[in-house]
Amino acid sequence: MTTLLALTNISTAYDQVNVLHGVSLDAKEGEITCILGANGAGKSTLIRSILGLTPPNQGQIEFAGASLIGLPTHKIISHGISCIPEGRKVFPKMTIDENLRVGGYQVSSEAVLRRRLAEVYETFPRLKERISQLAGTLSGGEQSMLSIGRGLMSKPKMLILDEPSLGLSPLLVQEEFRIIGDINRSGVTILLVEQNARQTLAISNYGYVLSQGRLEASGSAQELSENPQVQAAYFG
Ligand SMILES: Nc1ncnc2c1ncn2[C@@H]1O[C@H](COP(=O)(O)OP(=O)(O)O)[C@@H](O)[C@H]1O
Ligand SMILES: [Mg+2]
Repeated sequence: MTTLLALTNISTAYDQVNVLHGVSLDAKEGEITCILGANGAGKSTLIRSILGLTPPNQGQIEFAGASLIGLPTHKIISHGISCIPEGRKVFPKMTIDENLRVGGYQVSSEAVLRRRLAEVYETFPRLKERISQLAGTLSGGEQSMLSIGRGLMSKPKMLILDEPSLGLSPLLVQEEFRIIGDINRSGVTILLVEQNARQTLAISNYGYVLSQGRLEASGSAQELSENPQVQAAYFG
């Protein structure tokens, strides 16, 4: 498998205090790579580093062979990266259809846009039933689907999800993870950041464990599930 995203020795700081300390990781094309870590471990900061929102002060980031270091965020995402931020954040006063169109803002052809909308509605039939409903009136689970659908509108090579299971009921988490698996099988490489280790490892190919800004374990999903350290920290 080809490496799609490669981080080498990344350090990132807020107010000159490093919260990531020399992190290196790879996400292989076509796979689901997960990053597990407790609250405050630096997971969102890692995503902010990749997206250039909080640029690293050290290290290399390459996507599909091209360096992302020093690029502004809009250039970085134009390489084919889409991110579903923590807490989802749909536009509450816009309809489902309008929210999705925001995700496809860089598509200039209405025909292409319509085709992408149709694909998203095929993945999320429940959104199609509520096409003209204001996003703010949707349930948490529906808003979550909408935010993922919006992220797919740009046809990304890689979808980055920041704790998508946060705040969802166990049943919805299960559905959400099934959908993430489906999206991956449709050809999208996934970087999945989570605290929910068990369900995350169940759909991932490879994973990393982040603790206090450092990687403390990595391996295939199978290896990580059997790792005593991971079991103690995450499986109770
Ligand atoms: N904007 C910020 N300014 C200063 N410190 C921050 C900021 N965002 C996060 N931090 C700190 O960086 C560390 C990592 O946070 P974060 O990346 O959000 O972790 P996670 O996503 O794993 O919960 C924490 O100690 C947090 O308090
Ligand atoms: Mg976070």
